[in-house]
Amino acid sequence: MLSFFRDTRATLRALSKARDNMIAAWPKSFYRREFIEENILGRRLYIINSPAGVQRVFVTNAANYRKSPSNTATLKPLLGNGLFVSEGELWSRQRKVMTPATGANRLAPYAEIIGACGREMLGEWQERGTTFECDVNEPFTLVTAEVISQIMFGYRLGAQGWTLYEAFKDYQASAGRVHIAEMLGFPTWMPRPGRLAGKRAVEKFDGVLADIIRAGRERAEPATPDLLHMLVAYRDAEGKAMPPDLVRDEVASIFLAGHETTAITLAWAFYLLDQHRDVEARVHAELEKVLGGREPRFEDIDQLVYCRAVIDETLRLFPPVHVFSRQAIGPDEVCGHQIRKGSFMTVSSWVLHRHELWWEKPNKFRPERFLPENAAKVNRFAYIPFGTGPRVCLGKHLGLLEATMLFAMIAQRFQLRVKPGTSVEPLGRMTLRPRWGMPMVITRRA
Ligand code: HEM
Repeated sequence: MLSFFRDTRATLRALSKARDNMIAAWPKSFYRREFIEENILGRRLYIINSPAGVQRVFVTNAANYRKSPSNTATLKPLLGNGLFVSEGELWSRQRKVMTPATGANRLAPYAEIIGACGREMLGEWQERGTTFECDVNEPFTLVTAEVISQIMFGYRLGAQGWTLYEAFKDYQASAGRVHIAEMLGFPTWMPRPGRLAGKRAVEKFDGVLADIIRAGRERAEPATPDLLHMLVAYRDAEGKAMPPDLVRDEVASIFLAGHETTAITLAWAFYLLDQHRDVEARVHAELEKVLGGREPRFEDIDQLVYCRAVIDETLRLFPPVHVFSRQAIGPDEVCGHQIRKGSFMTVSSWVLHRHELWWEKPNKFRPERFLPENAAKVNRFAYIPFGTGPRVCLGKHLGLLEATMLFAMIAQRFQLRVKPGTSVEPLGRMTLRPRWGMPMVITRRA
């Protein structure tokens, strides 16, 4: 972004704006450019804005890149050495251990849990009367936290979901901001604002994680081991178990990576549905045709193509993970540009997904782009809501199933409208969430 700024002061001002809201800092011209290179305070920064560049850095030469300190420093206090932030042999071994928990053969039983948790949330909504108001971030975060906890750890969170909800909100508000120093790869021991509040949030979070792990260790191994049992039962070549700290870090990583992303996808999807009543009518028509009033089951999901397209298009316009940062381990050539060892590579999926060269009418909400007959036109490296390459999201299929199924269940029974007078502003911090929440008026459908 930086060559656009007249001088160092202007650059620092832009970086400071990015600290408040990363997506607001991208200049308009970025939505047309393919590659941006800048030197800032002696550090080399590249912004990759093309499918070819994404493919090179994330797929064909992925081994030459590691997650950069800007990514890991904000997350380390929460995730330790968990999968989302680890590198090298540790990452590769842990990814192998954990992959079976999210395999396609597991999705059918997971759908039952998603259905049960969704039913519980909607039952509570039903009791609140014909019409009520609420910030949907809350129920969506609680239901997705419950789903991930039951699926991956066999643990019913219940009221502890609130503790986690509050802790993570506090963390994002304080330590979760990407600091300028971190964006440029300066050491993590430098003093930063918000550290103390972030520490308190981690302590709250750790209390619940300890309960989840203790309960898992005490429980007999289920017939199909869940992820927690896979971690606990793991033995290396010398017969050694996984260190307890690492088990904690993996549980934290799955928990965090696996719920808020899905929750905000749902919030943005219902926001967009409210803004596009024609899309809403098509969603209702599909739900009626495929389900005729009954609850969706796993076998129905493939038939709900329009609902799924709404989720895909929501993830294009509002990708919950909106920025990717990598650091070059060695030199490389990306889209004809020489990359020096140590350079920082940034991809904003917010920009890439709204780029004028890769999308027709990029800012328009058009689920039709993702219908099976049009899907071939989507460049798969211009659309990366789940990342791509070896570090692609471990829970991609689960996340899509969960978002589509909960979306269908909610849309079938309730109408959601943004509360009049609400200002909806996307805020790019660790994730892309609505800055002022998503207060909505919820009405039972006849
Ligand atoms: C709509 C929902 C979701 C979205 C948008 C999403 C997005 C992402 C993205 C973009 C990455 C890659 C980050 C990078 O390359 O820097 C990622 C990684 C990851 N996600 Fe998801 N995710 C979702 C749901 C889930 C779920 C349900 C799980 C639970 C299993 C999960 C677990 C993970 C893990 C463990 C990683 C790290 C993988 C690695 O580095 O090897 N995610 N996710």
